[in-house]
Amino acid sequence: MKTQIFNSRQIKKAASLIKEGELVAFPTETVYGLGADALNPEAIKKIFKAKRRPSDNPLIVHIADIEQLHELAYMKKKAKLLIDRFWPGPLTIILKKKKIVPDIVTAGMDSVALRLPSNRITLDLIRLSGKPIAAPSANLSGKPSPTTFEHVYQDMDGRVSGMIRSGSCDYGVESTVVDLTSRKPLLLRPGGLSLEKLQEVLPDIKVYEQKDKQEKVRSPGMKYRHYSPDAKVILFELDSKDKIKEYKKYYEKKGKRAKILRLDNSQASSKNLFRYFREYDKKGYDYILVKAVEEQHLGLAMMNRLRKAASRIIRE
Ligand code: TXA
Ligand code: MG
Repeated sequence: MKTQIFNSRQIKKAASLIKEGELVAFPTETVYGLGADALNPEAIKKIFKAKRRPSDNPLIVHIADIEQLHELAYMKKKAKLLIDRFWPGPLTIILKKKKIVPDIVTAGMDSVALRLPSNRITLDLIRLSGKPIAAPSANLSGKPSPTTFEHVYQDMDGRVSGMIRSGSCDYGVESTVVDLTSRKPLLLRPGGLSLEKLQEVLPDIKVYEQKDKQEKVRSPGMKYRHYSPDAKVILFELDSKDKIKEYKKYYEKKGKRAKILRLDNSQASSKNLFRYFREYDKKGYDYILVKAVEEQHLGLAMMNRLRKAASRIIRE
């Protein structure tokens, strides 16, 4: 399929494709998304196909105003608190769904994930199409999420009808996902909005921890290996600076190429995390050696992604 590329002044054309049941990749403040009309099951099928995504992994529905939320889901007091404070922005909330949301969007669950993004282009695309837009990240399943247009082009050219070209995403990690379907709010995925900020509004929020593989996973996305570059990521969760250099020398002695990636828990680092992964793959590194960052603010989301990407975690 021939993929049409649009700039930020051609959003109307991209919106027409959404209305026609086609796929469009678009920027958001977190990562690029791969969108389709959330109320059109045939269009949604195309997302799973283009991404090679397992169909038991539900999608986030992107909306441009609160009226759309009321059409799709049942509001809750705690949701209202979060929405008033953090929307538009990098927060996804999970609420009990209404019948209108097709099963294929929610992978058969009775809840739906909703997000009202702050990116101007995303909001215009939703408004001009007149549809809620279901969208996962615009990467091939298992690859790092795309945070620049070039990444989207690499993964999706020829697989989707349209793409909106824009700059790199502000956060570089996906949205924070909070499940509000039970009595206690549950943080399912740390992301662009920090746990510290969530706690200001919901002091009783719990962080979901998957106890063992047998337990039914709360968020199907969590059971898949994720975010992995082709290079092996080695994560160093220890204080010693020398250890990481020792490993680098060791790999190089064996004729391998190893790159040390230095990060901190700032937005400048999170913005570039996935970009580094893709860049080092392109340069042909065999190993990416990363020192752990502090698990505060954006550091919690970064460590979550790094642990999922790691083939090995060195703790001593
Ligand atoms: O920042 C983001 O959230 C980006 C941009 C495009 O908005 N989207 C994104 O989507 O990261 P995706 O599909 O890569 O991740 C969605 C996550 C998955 O882990 C999925 O399992 C979970 O949200 N999810 C979706 N609906 C759910 C539901 N009803 N219950 C539990 N988890 C759900
Ligand atoms: Mg994803």
